[in-house]
Amino acid sequence: MTGAGISAESGLPTFRGAGGLWEGHRVEDVATPRAFARDPDLVLRFYDARRRALATVEPNPAHRALARLEAAWEGPFLLVTQNVDDLHERAGSKRLLHMHGELLRARCTRCGWADRWSGDLLGVACPACGRLPALRPDIVWFEEIPIGLERIEAALADCRLFAAIGTSGRVWPAAGFVERARRAGAHTVELNLEPGEASDRFHEQRFGPASRVVTAWVAELLAGR
Ligand code: APR
Repeated sequence: MTGAGISAESGLPTFRGAGGLWEGHRVEDVATPRAFARDPDLVLRFYDARRRALATVEPNPAHRALARLEAAWEGPFLLVTQNVDDLHERAGSKRLLHMHGELLRARCTRCGWADRWSGDLLGVACPACGRLPALRPDIVWFEEIPIGLERIEAALADCRLFAAIGTSGRVWPAAGFVERARRAGAHTVELNLEPGEASDRFHEQRFGPASRVVTAWVAELLAGR
């Protein structure tokens, strides 16, 4: 499972960085259904800027290492990301689940239409029902239910090796996955810049920038096969 820390070295800021702000905003002012109801233009403008920023960044060695691991891994593999960027797919990951949605998708709050979306959303009518305002980013905000929980639960119940990479472990239910994996008998590894909230729940910790620690961990796993 990955979080914002894996994309930090690509130039995408984490959520709980300096001052607890995300690109100058409190998370609850831009990433909750209430924020969207109160000021949809602010939220759409914020996510339009995040979507545009994707064009300026590239996958880093940590994303690429996970794609190599997947390609070489014999047996079931699932990369669950909390990230809404597309750096894992651009690095070549295939068995990938965006549990918090994707910047490059939109959906209609009026008719339910949902699809890939690469342009801005502010001021744009729904391509299916034509209503405006109606579109929102297809992103899981606080108080909303993550995507793919059944598939994730099934993977955790059958898990031998669980790694949490670049995540602070503050957001649920993702923060609880380590416990589920442990109960299934998995070896659990935390790879992060610093100890996350649930650090003591992992069997093993590797601290440092993802580009270094993930690359080294993957190389060891592949050498030991
Ligand atoms: N390499 C590895 N880890 C890093 C790096 C790096 N170069 N830079 C930062 N980190 C670590 C930080 O130390 C922090 O523990 O990444 C973690 C990022 O934590 P958060 O900003 O809280 O991001 P994340 O855990 O992904 O947040 C979870 O919260 O706001 C919601 O839905 C949003 O998916 C997001 C969720």
